[in-house]
Amino acid sequence: MALLRIPAEDRLLRGPEEIRDYLAPFGIFYERWAVEGRAGANATSEEILAAYAPEVDALKQRGGYITADVIDVTADIPGLQAMLDKFNKEHTHAEDEVRFIVRGRGIFHVHPPAGPVFAIEVEAGDLINVPAGTKHWFDLCADRDIRAIRLFREKAGWTPVYTGDGIAAGFQPLCFGPNYLPPGATVAATHPAFAA
Ligand SMILES: [Fe+2]
Repeated sequence: MALLRIPAEDRLLRGPEEIRDYLAPFGIFYERWAVEGRAGANATSEEILAAYAPEVDALKQRGGYITADVIDVTADIPGLQAMLDKFNKEHTHAEDEVRFIVRGRGIFHVHPPAGPVFAIEVEAGDLINVPAGTKHWFDLCADRDIRAIRLFREKAGWTPVYTGDGIAAGFQPLCFGPNYLPPGATVAATHPAFAA
């Protein structure tokens, strides 16, 4: 289940409906798709696309997306940091960034035209779109693991267009998922089993 943080307001939203309602005015849609009993997270790309075909096809119709593929990112792939560095600076795209998370997690920061920057942490079962022209950046969580279905109108439209604004450097790409440690916390404080 996604988490949404608004750092400037020290707010954390956890409920899917609350998150959906917060995102709607920005044209960002957020949905949960059932993952139980579907293709395993490590199935082939073809199996994953086949398993989610009903939702993917409906979304294509709704959003005018033409193609879908599966991206698989793990900590051990060569050149990972260079790849992440392309997306962790504020940018826009000429088309929507649509992702359904099959495995792992990641964090989108969105810089809306009005109002504070907010961060959406996504995990398996979360569908999100970041509409064309929206200023945003993306980071993986500490485990550097994500697999997602991507939908496109035109793959070329997904090239990042950098704004040149260094705003991303002011926001820590901290994920609040299962491995989250609050700043300054020790493992023993948050996981008592490690205290002995
Ligand atoms: Fe992007």
